Amino acid sequence: MRTQVGIIGAGPSGLLLARMLQLQGIESIIIESRSRAYIEARIRAGVMEHWVAELTDEVGLGARMRREGLVHDGLEISFAGQRRRIDLKGLTGKSIMVYGQQEFVKDFVAARLDDGLPIHFEAAGVSIHNIEGDSPRIRFTDKDGAPREIECDFIGGCDGFHGICRPAIPADKLSIFEKTYPYAWLGVMVEAPPSSDELIYSSHDNGFALHSMRSPELTRLYLQVSPDEDLENWRDERIWAELQTRLTQDGDWRLNEGPVLQKGITPMRSFVCETMRHGRLFLAGDSAHIVPPTGAKGMNLAAADVKVLAGALTDFYKSGDSAGLDGYTAQCLPRIWKAERFSWWMTQMLHLSPDGDGFDRRVQLAEIDYITGSEAGARSLAENYVGLPFD
Ligand code: APR
Ligand code: PHB
Repeated sequence: MRTQVGIIGAGPSGLLLARMLQLQGIESIIIESRSRAYIEARIRAGVMEHWVAELTDEVGLGARMRREGLVHDGLEISFAGQRRRIDLKGLTGKSIMVYGQQEFVKDFVAARLDDGLPIHFEAAGVSIHNIEGDSPRIRFTDKDGAPREIECDFIGGCDGFHGICRPAIPADKLSIFEKTYPYAWLGVMVEAPPSSDELIYSSHDNGFALHSMRSPELTRLYLQVSPDEDLENWRDERIWAELQTRLTQDGDWRLNEGPVLQKGITPMRSFVCETMRHGRLFLAGDSAHIVPPTGAKGMNLAAADVKVLAGALTDFYKSGDSAGLDGYTAQCLPRIWKAERFSWWMTQMLHLSPDGDGFDRRVQLAEIDYITGSEAGARSLAENYVGLPFD
């Protein structure tokens, strides 16, 4: 098999890249190690920056998002017995779109398959070769057990944090920066109407909690827990008690409870691989960087990489101009580091530090009071949250 761009991974990065290339008449093949059912059911974050929702429209796949997604003009921060609203729309002129990442994945997979374009699901033993040469290759065993080889011009390394693309870059060429945090998030999907119209980020003396949603019938909630926490220790009653304590600190309202449909623990990490290109391999999305989920930046950062990469590949195929490909990393990194900074900052401002003391906690509360109480502070949070403009 031969194609122009071989794409490893059918997450938001790989699917968006394939779609943007398709619209420019550039061929690609997607290779995904999981099944279609698995990637469509995998629950991830659900906040899209303003421009990502617009890009989804521009690539022709925004119809269901516009029908079912929830447009939010603000968010709330709860602390020290009160709740304050950040007026995202009023401060920036922009809103955010709450739409589950797996819904985005479903829309893109369906469109690609409807167009008769290839996604090889359940590919085993995926490996990449000759990335330093002119025609890199992808090898894998397809779901019927047949060995396959794809020859391409470029490889899109869209295979997430645990993929094979980043490790295919020689170790002496990799430049990596990372930070781990002394906490994790326990997330639950609940069959109950959201208890408020907007997201609530709550900093409580017991730890952080977040109220989010997926639809008028589905609430998504998170609790800060220890990174080595065992889910077995969190029966539903304990989760509800802790959510009620941490999220309803500002009065006598209560969270709507309902059946817990799914629960899981997500580790928190900041990670940047500054080598986003090696030869004809280009990393995009989680394969190159991770943010802790507090700023809701993961999927948005993936979309930003892909926008740059698709543009650079289009220039190359339309006019033979490789300046965009050569400048890919330099173009992406400033935005990545701003999102890393924002995610780290939101995380350390809102979570309880297990080694912090009374002084640290008081500084944290003063910072939240300032950010939510000063227009300058709120505007800084808001412009990062809705998505910084592109240079
Ligand atoms: N071969 C083929 N596919 C692979 C391989 C492999 N060796 N390893 C991983 N994959 C697939 C995964 O199964 C997954 O479907 O690559 C895909 C990577 O998708 P994501 O992890 O969703 O990463 P990305 O598309 O960059 O999207 C970033 O996802 O994790 C969230 O918070 C993150 O929102 C962000 C977004
Ligand atoms: C979510 O809805 O899953 C969500 C929302 C905001 C975040 C993280 C996750 O910061």
